[in-house]
Amino acid sequence: MSERDREPTSSSQATGDDGGERSTTDASNQPRDPSRRRALSIGVGVLGGGLAAVPLIPALGYLVYPLSNTITSAGDDFIEVGGRAQFGPTVPIKVDLFADRKDAWSVTRQVKIGSCWVLEREGELKAFSTVCPHLGCAIDFDAEASVFRCPCHRSEFDLDGAPAFGPSPRALDTLEIKQESELVAIRYRRFRQNIREKVEV
Ligand code: FES
Repeated sequence: MSERDREPTSSSQATGDDGGERSTTDASNQPRDPSRRRALSIGVGVLGGGLAAVPLIPALGYLVYPLSNTITSAGDDFIEVGGRAQFGPTVPIKVDLFADRKDAWSVTRQVKIGSCWVLEREGELKAFSTVCPHLGCAIDFDAEASVFRCPCHRSEFDLDGAPAFGPSPRALDTLEIKQESELVAIRYRRFRQNIREKVEV
């Protein structure tokens, strides 16, 4: 039998009668390579799963929102920090401020929200946030040198909170303070760091 008389044995014939490209599909137009078919199935599955998940995204966000948006704040309230008599003019007293922490499901009572240094200057009480205006480290008081110091980049502040040394762009941040009868109370706030102006956040 000559080459011309020989018939193709199956649909997997590699070369068409006109000598064209190899066929990679069968009559139903499906990929004949099993690995390609599997890859296509996986792709369709992933796409279908992704589309099915779209309506769930807002619901998940609703459930997760309270976890990512816990509020720890005293709002506009003043927080009592003790009697007036404890605060003198030369050695500041560090006081911690507590408020309730709230999320969508629960309230945790009396969580620490911050601290401040309190002292009397020229007959008036002053409260300085312990958050350094430079980059937010905790301000200490050096009783020997009688200055406030930041341990991170060595900023120093005098007893009035004015910058005396280092990179801090402004004075210590003052907090509102009031006295009723013999009780002292402070309104806690946080401020933007590393800028000259005192801007609440
Ligand atoms: S954070 Fe206080 S000096 Fe830099």
